[in-house]
Amino acid sequence: MNTNREQFGSKLGFILAAAGSAVGIGNLVGFPVNAAKNGGGAFLVIYALFVIAVCLPVMIAELSMGRSTKKGPVGAYSGLAGSDSRWKIAGIIGVLTPFMIGIFYTVISVWILGYLFMAATGELTYLADDGTFGSFVSSYYIFAAMIGVVALIYLILKMGVQEGIEKVSKILMPTLFFMLIGLVIFVLTLDNASAGIEFYVIPDFSKITASVINGALSQAFFSLSLGMGILLTYGSYLSRKTNIVSSAKMVALADTSVAFIAGLMVMPAIFSFNPEVDPSDLSDSSVGLIFILLPKIFLALQVSIGFIAASIVATLFFLLVFFAAITSLVSIIEVPVAYLIDEKKQSRKKALSNIGLYGGILTIIASMSLGMVGFLTEMVTYGSGVKSFFDVIIDIFYDTILPLNGLLVCLFVSYRWKKKSINKELSIGDDNFEGSFMQKYINFSLGTFIPVILLLIFLNTVADKFFAYSLFGF
Ligand code: ALA
Repeated sequence: MNTNREQFGSKLGFILAAAGSAVGIGNLVGFPVNAAKNGGGAFLVIYALFVIAVCLPVMIAELSMGRSTKKGPVGAYSGLAGSDSRWKIAGIIGVLTPFMIGIFYTVISVWILGYLFMAATGELTYLADDGTFGSFVSSYYIFAAMIGVVALIYLILKMGVQEGIEKVSKILMPTLFFMLIGLVIFVLTLDNASAGIEFYVIPDFSKITASVINGALSQAFFSLSLGMGILLTYGSYLSRKTNIVSSAKMVALADTSVAFIAGLMVMPAIFSFNPEVDPSDLSDSSVGLIFILLPKIFLALQVSIGFIAASIVATLFFLLVFFAAITSLVSIIEVPVAYLIDEKKQSRKKALSNIGLYGGILTIIASMSLGMVGFLTEMVTYGSGVKSFFDVIIDIFYDTILPLNGLLVCLFVSYRWKKKSINKELSIGDDNFEGSFMQKYINFSLGTFIPVILLLIFLNTVADKFFAYSLFGF
């Protein structure tokens, strides 16, 4: 075992870093709108149930595998599988997934930085224009913003786990939370705010279909950073004094609370902009909402608070989303970096340069596939139509592979590593674990219904994304 491995300095530091990973772009806009469209309070209840009953045990399993081996996905699967080398493939997918997710996450973070800059420099009217987003993403300005994002991630990760990831999370996460609360308080003073809140929280069970349930679980999985090797890698930096179960509960609670509170910011803003809005007409994508709808809402605020104040609100919002994106991106990129350090014996600096080089090239290609270069923009046709390189990465690595990775974690922990080993790991730092309800629940759920649910979601997503066919008939 590697005794010199870097470690988080404290339990709070770990919780903030893992919550920083979890709270991301999707929490702040995608989650609230999804909830409002799909049954309001009814969706919130189902989402919360999934977080507690399905996601929490998977999170605990990933953290245990990481801490027990002090390795990322490849080292953890290989180390715990003994002579069965086939499991190494699961580890490799577990590193490739965040590497590829890092590509599209960087592209979106670059857009956020661009919008932040423009909101702060008085360009709100331009941002609210219908054609701006399309022309911005295919302009050469994005390369300037890309240098900014890549340099920032490089600098944070170069400082290492405690001085980089943990320190930055300790500053950005509380700041993010206070900014969010400030914006919520402001938004609640707007006309029609209460209509937005009503739509968000009043349950409408008639909207709950198999497709909504599938979407809720996929959203919860991505939001909690599961199936991306992140929590496994963060687990490898955990001290043996840390109580994994209670820390995981805190991370899940923080992520879900931020997502819920974000709804109290976004829904009243949407309703104050257009009291007649039908949420089912709103875009499904966080990207469409953040970059197209919200700038219009911010600009409309100038009627009541003036242009400068409206620009300040817009700037604060984009800063908030940028902080959320950076703390997530750091965790996503740390996984392949840790792989090169652990398995290829590279220094942190060299590993970062390599990931920066290869990831950077793919990020540039992905950015150019959004209108700049024809054959990348219309690269392939499947499922719902013509797809760009950027779409392909999202379809494979965001939509499809996460439940598969989660499934592999469940099967591995239950049937290869075995329940008694995970129980032993979870008892370290938690004297009351053995014999507890939580132990029984984790052992039972990871070996039975959670893998079945994840398998169904995986199969349905493959059928839906690649063959435009729904297994559940919706
Ligand atoms: N969990 C991160 C997010 O929600 C990746 O954006």
